[in-house]
Amino acid sequence: MHIVSLLSSSLLFGTLSHAIALPAADSSIHGRHARQGAYHHRDGLASRTPVAKLARQNTNTTIPTADGPEFWLELLAHQGVSPLGPSGYTTFRNVKAFGAVGDGVTDDTDAINEAISSGGRCGQGCFSSTVTPAIIYFPAGTYVVSSTIFDYYNTIIVGNPNALPVLKAASGFKGGSLIDGDPYFTESLNWPSTTVFWRQVRNIVLDTTEVAAGTGISAIHWPTAQATSLQNIVFELSAQDGTQHQGIFCESGSAGFAGDLVFNGGKVGAAVGNQQFTMRNLTFNGVGTAISHSWNWGWTYQGLSINDCEVGIDISTGGTTQGSVGSITVFDSSFMNTPVAIKSAQSESSLPPTAGSIILENISIDNVNVVVEGPSGTVLQGSAASQVIAGWGQGNQYTPDGPTRFAGEITPVSRPAGLLDGDRYFQRSKPQYEGFPASSFSSVRDGGATGDATTDDTNALQTVINSAAASNKVVFLDAGVYKVTKTLTIPANTKIIGEAFPVILSSGEFFNDKSAPKPVIQVGQVGEEGQVELSDFIISTQGAQAGATLIEWNLASLSEPSGLWEVHTRVGGFAGSQQTTAECPKTPGTVITEADENCIVAYMLMHVTPSASNLYIENCWLWVSDHDIDVEKEADGGQITLYSGRGLNIESTKGNIWLSGTSVEHNVLYEYQFVSTKNIYMGQIQTETAYYQPNPNALIPFAPEPSIHDPDFESSCASSTGNCAVGWGLRVVDSQDLHVYGAGLYSFFDNYDATCSAYGGNGGGQNCQNSIFSIEGDSSITVYNLNTLGSKSMVDKDGESLASFSDNIGVFTNNIAHFKTE
Ligand SMILES: *[C@@H]1O[C@H](CO)[C@@H](O)[C@H](O)[C@H]1NC(C)=O
Ligand SMILES: *[C@@H]1O[C@H](CO)[C@@H](O)[C@H](O)[C@H]1NC(C)=O
Ligand SMILES: *[C@@H]1O[C@H](CO)[C@@H](O)[C@H](O)[C@H]1NC(C)=O
Repeated sequence: MHIVSLLSSSLLFGTLSHAIALPAADSSIHGRHARQGAYHHRDGLASRTPVAKLARQNTNTTIPTADGPEFWLELLAHQGVSPLGPSGYTTFRNVKAFGAVGDGVTDDTDAINEAISSGGRCGQGCFSSTVTPAIIYFPAGTYVVSSTIFDYYNTIIVGNPNALPVLKAASGFKGGSLIDGDPYFTESLNWPSTTVFWRQVRNIVLDTTEVAAGTGISAIHWPTAQATSLQNIVFELSAQDGTQHQGIFCESGSAGFAGDLVFNGGKVGAAVGNQQFTMRNLTFNGVGTAISHSWNWGWTYQGLSINDCEVGIDISTGGTTQGSVGSITVFDSSFMNTPVAIKSAQSESSLPPTAGSIILENISIDNVNVVVEGPSGTVLQGSAASQVIAGWGQGNQYTPDGPTRFAGEITPVSRPAGLLDGDRYFQRSKPQYEGFPASSFSSVRDGGATGDATTDDTNALQTVINSAAASNKVVFLDAGVYKVTKTLTIPANTKIIGEAFPVILSSGEFFNDKSAPKPVIQVGQVGEEGQVELSDFIISTQGAQAGATLIEWNLASLSEPSGLWEVHTRVGGFAGSQQTTAECPKTPGTVITEADENCIVAYMLMHVTPSASNLYIENCWLWVSDHDIDVEKEADGGQITLYSGRGLNIESTKGNIWLSGTSVEHNVLYEYQFVSTKNIYMGQIQTETAYYQPNPNALIPFAPEPSIHDPDFESSCASSTGNCAVGWGLRVVDSQDLHVYGAGLYSFFDNYDATCSAYGGNGGGQNCQNSIFSIEGDSSITVYNLNTLGSKSMVDKDGESLASFSDNIGVFTNNIAHFKTE
């Protein structure tokens, strides 16, 4: 997250007081510009998007609402605990146990809100919390609600995937959205949107069709940040002429992932503004504008299917003088029977110069008149027949010299075969094991693990993991905090799924020797082959853990990829971590020459070792906390100084690794590092540099270790002045065929002072650090829509800058639409 929003949250949405009553419409403001005092109001959508003229027919109204097979999650014993939460706290809540009927007639509003809010959870006025996680479960049924459902902090809303429940707005519905993920109780959002972490909504139909078409309503209001997801949701919106319904309304945040969504009808399917996002496998049928951006820095769309809409993606907000949409990267997608696929405001002279940058790769069109419409007409002509656009873009190009301003064809990436499924990129949604009987799951609580944050659960967990792998069962990690004092080994054939983001918490001296680092979880031994699937849990450390590598991945997966979905790291800054504002406060006024040993949280967050291969990682947030989640809001947002040596280090020699919607933040030496690897797909990667750097710089407290190829900053900083020895956002060494479909590399601070990243009219200072992206040795990499912030140089090759921020000024970040090393 970026703390500035938190500091100035009351300023950000100062004019949003009617956001509850209105749909997205006139309420989208780019938060960061707001902070600079340059509010970008958006005209009401009503005046911008012509009323639907095409016949709007929901082409897919077959919603499985009948009772299907029960879902194992409902049938298992619910033994999750929250050891640091209120006593007697319940994590699993079936809405029917709270009186919801789901018969399509009864008003279930109060019952559902009670299921979410009961038990002293983090709702109105709460800053944030890690100690009251909950799963709200919807069995099959149609749940009629008459007013907004308020989604609390740290909440998973999940329906039966075998028979999707329908949440249906009654005809007289009161409220701006069916589900509100962050309400405006005042003029500000209840939680600053960049601090809304660890939440999901999945397997549900959100239906607003009973509400009068002319009434503004959103199915879900979703201003959120990292470690959040929307998965397997059908949006049923009024398809009548003049409809004012929209599916997702997101006006701000720093997210995030959404996938497997279907939108039927409505004026806008997704009305979205956020720093960055990864959205995959979205289908829009008969929507006015499928996707409308109020602002963004970078956005990755994989597998869009846009059918029978008027406009596919509108990124023209702000027009030619105040463009507020940074960039979109769209690939393996189709547009059908849609007159205008993409509407943009970019031209040679539009401002800011790189706003509205676009990359398209493998786009099929069928009956699309205009593929890209610019401010003065067609930029890329479509056709009545079907056609494939192999590669096209607009913006600034470095191949690798530049900038060259372009709007035209690009040579698409030569896709490594190992990353493909047929001829498109492999993709796999988080498995929910919906077809499995309850008897296929092994609960760790049943196996004797306590999850009480105090007992050493290492042996109990290990026993359950080993026996589940041997008997083809899925480990169910019940909600709880599981303390471990030795490495947990994860053998081939392991599947682990968590309930409400349980935590594996390393603790003790075993993990505190930085000269002999130890994995907290170790997936496969070197040379081991097989498949592993892990999802929905958090790995953390407690107290000084200078030798803890949170995840070590050695497993080679030869037949099918292994996967990691919503497995996050969170080190320090939460109740029970022993590294909170009390122990590790920020101290920008003191020159730090030596780190406080008690505030060293980790050695490395994740290591993909040379023997590992074929690993699909989706929506994982490797986070070193920048603020304390469980303190009450303080003036500085509870910022803390913590030291984790390294972020994600990939050294797989065979490669074939997918990073779909991942982010790595606040490590000392680097966030992402690739060494002697190959064949990597990355689709929106995001980083933030540690806020305290360069006080101390990246050489404190970990001496660069050659065996894991740490940067030493010696050559790169030999002749440099300024903020040089600061952690890399992205470092690539001797690696081939790295393909980045969207990157946001951000450095907001210089010793906790954000002046260095202030937009300030024309790019401001951009001197939080000299360089943020380093390509070294014999490496080949393509980056679509590289967005950097706070770094003078946007990309360096062997210590020389290839691109200066000042040549690539964008909406707040600086953008290069197309970069490649050769
Ligand atoms: C319609 O929806 C059903 C259920 O989600 C799905 O199985 C089917 O493939 C969909 N059909 C189309 C044409 O999208
Ligand atoms: C895309 O989402 C639909 C549900 O909306 C799902 O049935 C389908 O399997 C998904 N496709 C991929 C490739 O994940
Ligand atoms: C292009 O994307 C489509 C999906 O729209 C996919 O079916 C096809 O395999 C992809 N082709 C290539 C060459 O990537």
